[in-house]
Amino acid sequence: MLAAISIISGPSSQALAGRVARALGSRLADVDFFRFPDGEQYLRVPDVGAHSVIIQSTPTDSDYISLLQLIDACDRAEKIDVVIPYFGYARQDRRFLDGEAVSSRALAGAITADRVFTINIHNRNVLSHFDAEATDLDAAPVVGERIAAMGLTHPMIVAPDEGAIDLVRSASEHLGVDFDHLEKTRLSGEDVLIKRKKMDVSGRDVVLMDDMISTGGTITEAAQVLRENGANRVFSACIHPVLARNAALRLFASGIEDIVATDTLDRSVGVVSVANLIADGIRRDR
Ligand code: R5P
Repeated sequence: MLAAISIISGPSSQALAGRVARALGSRLADVDFFRFPDGEQYLRVPDVGAHSVIIQSTPTDSDYISLLQLIDACDRAEKIDVVIPYFGYARQDRRFLDGEAVSSRALAGAITADRVFTINIHNRNVLSHFDAEATDLDAAPVVGERIAAMGLTHPMIVAPDEGAIDLVRSASEHLGVDFDHLEKTRLSGEDVLIKRKKMDVSGRDVVLMDDMISTGGTITEAAQVLRENGANRVFSACIHPVLARNAALRLFASGIEDIVATDTLDRSVGVVSVANLIADGIRRDR
């Protein structure tokens, strides 16, 4: 008989964990957290289920600590699935300069579980650094469906660089929506250069889509190129709304009409839930 699933939510993924529990018809376990006066974190899962499904994104270092604590607190479970909807540090996926830490490898290597699930991780090669069987789930089709339902005029989905072309292809497949990509050079953590390019966007509504929006620099620069090409309305979409510092303000101030994003991170932008995608992944080969 299959063990009953308990959903164990970390502090950064509470809304999503609630939706996954509902999708699976499973119990949501209680989790107690607090911070000691010196800043250290405390965490307790009083009632650990036989099949524990931990859900915790790791946008900050303390979220990563919480994830390790959750895994340790659940060590009595017969089976542990760890869902990391947004896996921070995934962009440091190789050594760009001599002597750099390959941070994604260091962090993935410390996760112990039976199965690990991520969602549109920045680079799928990072999955090989997990000890457990690791699966990356693709949320692009769910975002694509939302875009298709927005009633846009002759829409097009555009990636800001070639690295995001598979993502926009996946979002536009089955929808009969055109897609294309721009070319980006990163100048610094906040600034990028998008190459001027002729694009068939005149009079069309365009959705700029990337795996994540962090400072918003990429999307605001790309929007400028689209406008130069005569685009009508410009929207942005992403899987992970990191939205660091004043990114949302920067996007809306630049004339982006809306930000469509998933709930891998809890942010106050148009939400498309990945709960069913995760629930399907958990059910698979239990
Ligand atoms: C980078 O490779 C990613 O795919 C995103 O393009 C990038 O993280 C977006 O960052 P920002 O919003 O700061 O330009």
